[in-house]
Amino acid sequence: MSVAKKDYKRVTTKSLIEMKAHGEKISMLTAYDFTMAKIVDTAGVDVILVGDSASNVMAGHETTLPITLDQMIYHASSVVRATNRALVVVDLPFGSYQSDPKEALRSSIRIMKESGAHALKLEGGSEIKDSIKKILNAGIPVMGHLGLTPQSIYKFGSYTVRAKEEEEADKLIEDAKMLERVGCFGVVLEKIPAKLAQKVAESISIPVIGIGAGGGVDGQVLVIHDMLGMNNEFSPRFLRRYMNLYEGMTTAIGKYVEDVKSKDFPNEKEQY
Ligand code: KIV
Repeated sequence: MSVAKKDYKRVTTKSLIEMKAHGEKISMLTAYDFTMAKIVDTAGVDVILVGDSASNVMAGHETTLPITLDQMIYHASSVVRATNRALVVVDLPFGSYQSDPKEALRSSIRIMKESGAHALKLEGGSEIKDSIKKILNAGIPVMGHLGLTPQSIYKFGSYTVRAKEEEEADKLIEDAKMLERVGCFGVVLEKIPAKLAQKVAESISIPVIGIGAGGGVDGQVLVIHDMLGMNNEFSPRFLRRYMNLYEGMTTAIGKYVEDVKSKDFPNEKEQY
């Protein structure tokens, strides 16, 4: 298939569907603050995800469960202010949509209104179908998230690969088709076998973005702190580190401490 690359002034949900149709892979990264989002946007990433992984990497929680709707809105509005080109997708946090469709819509409206985000992402399939439909009916674009869904970590019991067994794989395929049918503009597939992810990508026309789901999908997403090597404790097989910022930053900060202690900083030129 030929790869027709088009320069998008602002990436929209429609552009992503076009990219899939043209065989152009979609790049997606997380960001949670203004400065990082500006760098990610300038570098040409198509989609910025204000993920609830902020709960882990920004707040230091063990899981994504504690982050609140107000905190997600704070992160999302900082990211939206920084972007000119990327589509900004925001995670609905745990506890803000699971009770019923009305609660899901209320939370969605708050994120869209108070942060200026362009779209939302929700974890789950048939269990939350009515909530997804309610949000879509209000004109809010929705991205699904299947496979390893970290908000359900206490149900799964571990972060191991999902849908290795036929029953779970079949449900995942059905859920992905349902997400397309009801009108979602894309689906994230997290930590599932590459063959299954490719099969899903080939059986629906909306983009499938993978994380730990192999190369047969329509795009890739990573957590920015992981791919920049800011966190040296997390090294799953799917992660490619493009830098070792942990080392670079601790060396630079250590040098600063040394310079302050030795009175080398500030020098004559660095003062008024
Ligand atoms: O919260 C997040 O960062 C995510 C990605 C892992 C897809 O949902």
